[in-house]
Amino acid sequence: MLDINAFSNQYEVRLIKDTDVRQIYMFCRQNVLYYQYCPPFATEDSIRKDMAALPPKKTADDKYYVGYFDRHGLAAILDLILEYPNKDTAFIGFFMTDASIQNKGIGSTIITDLCAYLSGIGISYIRLGWVKGNPQAEHFWHKNGFEETGITCETDGYTVIVAQRAL
Ligand SMILES: CC(C)(COP(=O)(O)OP(=O)(O)OC[C@H]1O[C@@H](n2cnc3c(N)ncnc32)[C@H](O)[C@@H]1OP(=O)(O)O)[C@@H](O)C(=O)NCCC(=O)NCCS
Repeated sequence: MLDINAFSNQYEVRLIKDTDVRQIYMFCRQNVLYYQYCPPFATEDSIRKDMAALPPKKTADDKYYVGYFDRHGLAAILDLILEYPNKDTAFIGFFMTDASIQNKGIGSTIITDLCAYLSGIGISYIRLGWVKGNPQAEHFWHKNGFEETGITCETDGYTVIVAQRAL
């Protein structure tokens, strides 16, 4: 069981609840570029599905779908899966910052703090994927120390580049 309060030094982090779905939808719909590369566009239903979605052989206990809040509201959303695809690795299924506060280093600070916390509890790697060709996602994850593993996943209409950072 992770201590989600320790994910961030600056934000209050808490699990997203069903009553937050409307707010999450309003948040996601500002990030138009993301859905151009990773369609379809978000709906309240697709958000509910993402909140429950699990990789093979994982259970709800392994999943942390959290929001980062401050006095201005929701700053970021993170979907983290523990011990996937192996015991030493945590998997980021989704990460998004508020479109109105992007390019100010906030996403990088959140990921830096998360890496420090996960490293401190003995996790060795963080793995994630971005849609091939999405310049924003690729630049951001490279900037934060993630490197391509050479693995790609083909889905309907786009290719996912799998990347990893050693902690
Ligand atoms: C990717 C994301 C999380 C970054 O959050 P952020 O708070 O803006 O992060 P930072 O400010 O720390 O870094 C943003 C970097 O992306 C760069 N960037 C922004 N838009 C870009 C674009 N269209 N093309 C290339 N780079 C871009 C910025 O210049 C900055 O890099 P720099 O510091 O070297 O100049 C945010 O843009 C987002 O939520 N995007 C939509 C969702 C998404 O793509 N999530 C990741 C895939 S799972």
